[in-house]
Amino acid sequence: MQFLVPLLLFLSLCLGQQNEGSVYTPRISSGYGNWSEAYRKAREFVCQLTLTEKVNLTTQVGTGQTQGYDIGIIPRLNFRGFAADDSPSGVRGTDYSSAFAAGLNLAMSWDRELIYAQSYANGAEHKGKGVNIVYAPVAGPLGRAPTGGRIFESYSPDPYLSGIAFGTSIAGMQAAGVIAVGKHFILYEQEHFRQVIEWNSYGLGPNITEPYSSNCDDRTLHELYLFPWYDAVYSGMAGVMCSYNQINNTQACQNNHILNDILKGELGFQGFVTSDDGSQHDGVLTALAGMDMTIPGETSPNGIAGLGISFWGPNLTMAVLNGSVPEWRLDDMATRIMAAYYYLGQDQDFPPLSFAAADYSTYGYEYPQAQVDYTQINWHVDVRQNHSQIIRAVGANSIVLLKNNNGTLPLRKPRQIAVIGEDAGPSPYGPNGCTDRGCVNGTLAMGWGSGSTNFPYLVDPLSAIQQRALKDGTEVQYVLNNFATAQIDSVASQATVCLVFINADSGEGYIEVGGNYGDRNNLTAWLGGDALVQRVAANCSQTAVIIHAPGPILMEDWIDHPNVTAVLFAGLPGQESGNLLVDVLYGDVNPSGKLPWTVGKAREDYGTDVLYEPKGPVPQIDFTEGLFIDYRWFDKQGIDPRFEFGFGLSYTTFDYQNLSIETLKASPATATTTSPVASTTVNPSRCPTTSLNPSDYTFPSTISSLTNYIYPYIAPNATISTAAAGTPTPTIIPEAAGPQGGNPALYDVLYRVTLTLKNNGTVAGQEVAQLYLDLDNGEPSRQLRGFNKTFLQAGETKDVTFDLRRRDVAIWDVVKQEWVEVKKLGTKIGVYVGASSRDLRLTGEI
Ligand SMILES: *[C@@H]1O[C@H](CO)[C@@H](O)[C@H](O)[C@H]1NC(C)=O
Ligand SMILES: *[C@@H]1O[C@H](CO)[C@@H](O)[C@H](O)[C@H]1NC(C)=O
Ligand SMILES: *[C@@H]1O[C@H](CO)[C@@H](O)[C@H](O)[C@H]1NC(C)=O
Ligand SMILES: *[C@@H]1O[C@H](CO)[C@@H](O)[C@H](O)[C@H]1NC(C)=O
Ligand SMILES: *[C@@H]1O[C@H](CO)[C@@H](O)[C@H](O)[C@H]1NC(C)=O
Ligand SMILES: *[C@@H]1O[C@H](CO)[C@@H](O)[C@H](O)[C@H]1NC(C)=O
Ligand SMILES: *[C@@H]1O[C@H](CO)[C@@H](O)[C@H](O)[C@H]1NC(C)=O
Ligand SMILES: *[C@@H]1O[C@H](CO)[C@@H](O)[C@H](O)[C@H]1NC(C)=O
Ligand SMILES: *[C@@H]1O[C@H](CO)[C@@H](O)[C@H](O)[C@H]1NC(C)=O
Ligand SMILES: *[C@@H]1O[C@H](CO)[C@@H](O)[C@H](O)[C@H]1NC(C)=O
Ligand SMILES: *[C@@H]1O[C@H](CO)[C@@H](O)[C@H](O)[C@H]1NC(C)=O
Ligand SMILES: *[C@@H]1O[C@H](CO)[C@@H](O)[C@H](O)[C@H]1NC(C)=O
Repeated sequence: MQFLVPLLLFLSLCLGQQNEGSVYTPRISSGYGNWSEAYRKAREFVCQLTLTEKVNLTTQVGTGQTQGYDIGIIPRLNFRGFAADDSPSGVRGTDYSSAFAAGLNLAMSWDRELIYAQSYANGAEHKGKGVNIVYAPVAGPLGRAPTGGRIFESYSPDPYLSGIAFGTSIAGMQAAGVIAVGKHFILYEQEHFRQVIEWNSYGLGPNITEPYSSNCDDRTLHELYLFPWYDAVYSGMAGVMCSYNQINNTQACQNNHILNDILKGELGFQGFVTSDDGSQHDGVLTALAGMDMTIPGETSPNGIAGLGISFWGPNLTMAVLNGSVPEWRLDDMATRIMAAYYYLGQDQDFPPLSFAAADYSTYGYEYPQAQVDYTQINWHVDVRQNHSQIIRAVGANSIVLLKNNNGTLPLRKPRQIAVIGEDAGPSPYGPNGCTDRGCVNGTLAMGWGSGSTNFPYLVDPLSAIQQRALKDGTEVQYVLNNFATAQIDSVASQATVCLVFINADSGEGYIEVGGNYGDRNNLTAWLGGDALVQRVAANCSQTAVIIHAPGPILMEDWIDHPNVTAVLFAGLPGQESGNLLVDVLYGDVNPSGKLPWTVGKAREDYGTDVLYEPKGPVPQIDFTEGLFIDYRWFDKQGIDPRFEFGFGLSYTTFDYQNLSIETLKASPATATTTSPVASTTVNPSRCPTTSLNPSDYTFPSTISSLTNYIYPYIAPNATISTAAAGTPTPTIIPEAAGPQGGNPALYDVLYRVTLTLKNNGTVAGQEVAQLYLDLDNGEPSRQLRGFNKTFLQAGETKDVTFDLRRRDVAIWDVVKQEWVEVKKLGTKIGVYVGASSRDLRLTGEI
């Protein structure tokens, strides 16, 4: 299959020369396809700007400098600028907004409609609060290490499931009108050693001098870690955040091959690339490598040691004036940022920013660092609408029922329930008792870090269960202290059914909880959870275990205990936690979640893990396992998991029949003909020439300077050699690979697989039918390439289809630098359909 030709010629030339000091190949976008109108407007806008106004668009004003807009303020044109905020779980650091389910639960639901609905609601809440740029959703980490601290913010180590969830989330958030910034790009798979200052300040061991380097071969990058980003770009993703780690020993935010060649070239990304907070390590090199915006504006993470000092801001103005960054590169940055603004229609009736992040008082300083301008900073706008219903639906439909013997669930008017475990009840400190949810007190419904938000309330399981149990006249006893053995024994031995709650937590590396530096130290339950389950089970013949956790936990200590008759994995479900659990416990919602990763029997069985010891000043993480992570590894090694990827029970059963495979008429793949040729000048010739006279860019006498606030102006006495100014270097490759998402032929549907699904049980329910392919050619023996969640009444039968796109049946050819259909390699494709990655009921062949 010959396509992506124009780009590929170039890429193959630059293979193996991706280190610092190599040629920089900035991609100037000229705006095409869905972006053409946005680019037309953006160019018109950028055309009018002076050099420092463009720099303002690229550089945030610094850590905690303002409670208002903090990027891109252009007073001369009455452009109020952009407000930006986290997170995938809601608007971070404010009130009257929702605490959504984690990305993990979206993946556990395998439900495209619910993923879209929650993402739309989250986008709408950000917009309602006046946030233009949202740092979400997350597909990096992908989930290489099951203990990885932030894997709950993203979806699944399976690239197909992750890609569908990521693309759908982007589409949902952006339909609400915000700029979604997909993060983190790329190969950011653990928290340890992601930042030099952060790690060294813990004083745990040898200091490091650079963030860890993820070293990954080209095929693994494309087929695993990059795979979901195609879906996101295809959905119109307008922003990307480059990550903290290095890639092949080049910082992610100054990695030309990753940003210019792959993201902006191969994937045709037309939005902007922003740094993370402290992931920029150089001024000129990041500009040349394709970064377009810097947050928080300063050189160092969280402003430590670098308050007010920026690689960009004044430095970028200087760099353009002295020619180290070509003017067209700055124009391209500004154009990409403004194109995102117009692409999302933010020029039309976008609400004003109405809150100050992490400050809840109504009045305060507009400029808190400088203590200037005492004014209203919070309007306490309630943006929640009916979103609690969506959160409850996501949570209930994402719970994975792992075991259900002896008809333990659903509960049918039990006489007496024992609710046991700290994880069942409220925290004595309240749901927002620890900064960025950095503790485990009471029930766990959210992980910690910047991916968190404030709970507007948190319905804990105990209160929801009590409320429901009252209706049946059920007696409810509880013990919330995991170590109150006498009370536990007593309560458990009296109950008809025992609900025992255990958890484990993880989060972002800047917070340590119980000795866990973001990444979990182990895969076992916290707070003595395993012993707690065993204790309860010893006294109670119907023990249901409920787990709240950011990823897999080991269950070997108790899973085969005859009294452990039910197990539910509930993930991190957000504010409605107790209610949605009751929905499932009592059968109002028939569980339909499926595991988005493997539950192994031992930690070592996964083959991949976090690197916990730096082993040198620049930790090296070699992705030697290649394509084989999670179930692909278990399958390859012949290791039996406890519960396989894709597994999940229901209160009903399903019968799979009649597999058929249809070859559709798709146009043959060709080189991208719609690929526009971009010009080396973003500004059309009718734009007035931008002054490159340094004296035009010194601090204006009309505004008073705030200490440590980042302005774009240069010092009055700055010495600038203007010799090279403004001359584009010939390194520019002005060609785009294709429209958003790369070659459109990748998305052509080539095959349609159909089966007949029957609900042969006694209650209505939903089944996630799954399609796995064997692509041979050194590929994993089974990889997910389709899923379809279908609702069936008891006794009902439906046809269920899966559409296979060209990219689903192709592998990445590192020599040709293109996707090649395995059919063209003479390979037959094995087709497997079933209820999990190991419960394959039907087989066929293409
Ligand atoms: C840049 O932004 C700051 C506010 O962050 C504003 O005071 C200044 O006037 C802007 N500069 C230009 C050139 O627009
Ligand atoms: C490691 O770095 C920390 C923080 O910069 C510093 O306080 C400490 O002295 C360093 N330790 C060594 C052994 O250099
Ligand atoms: C990293 O190095 C490997 C091995 O040389 C190579 O296959 C891969 O393309 C490189 N990746 C990047 C992003 O430079
Ligand atoms: C982009 O444009 C194509 C073709 O016009 C359309 O099918 C697709 O839905 C658009 N995508 C987005 C995200 O707007
Ligand atoms: C410019 O960047 C350098 C680091 O490259 C830094 O030392 C300097 O303080 C920066 N200047 C400003 C004005 O931020
Ligand atoms: C529950 O089921 C298991 C087998 O699944 C059986 O061994 C056990 O005796 C049953 N327990 C009760 C209390 O019925
Ligand atoms: C709250 O959580 C922290 C860390 O998880 C723990 O050290 C502390 O003991 C807990 N406090 C209570 C009252 O549970
Ligand atoms: C695993 O980590 C948790 C949290 O730090 C801790 O409570 C637990 O004891 C650890 N488990 C083992 C087996 O060390
Ligand atoms: C199961 O629970 C019953 C109490 O109902 C208890 O007598 C029995 O010993 C328990 N079984 C085990 C294996 O602990
Ligand atoms: C439903 O179908 C499954 C799979 O074919 C089968 O194992 C099960 O026995 C059937 N259940 C009933 C009640 O027929
Ligand atoms: C410019 O002036 C500032 C403040 O007066 C001084 O600190 C700095 O060294 C001067 N820089 C040059 C290049 O002369
Ligand atoms: C699921 O199957 C139904 C019924 O054939 C079909 O209409 C729908 O498009 C399929 N969904 C997906 C995501 O393939």
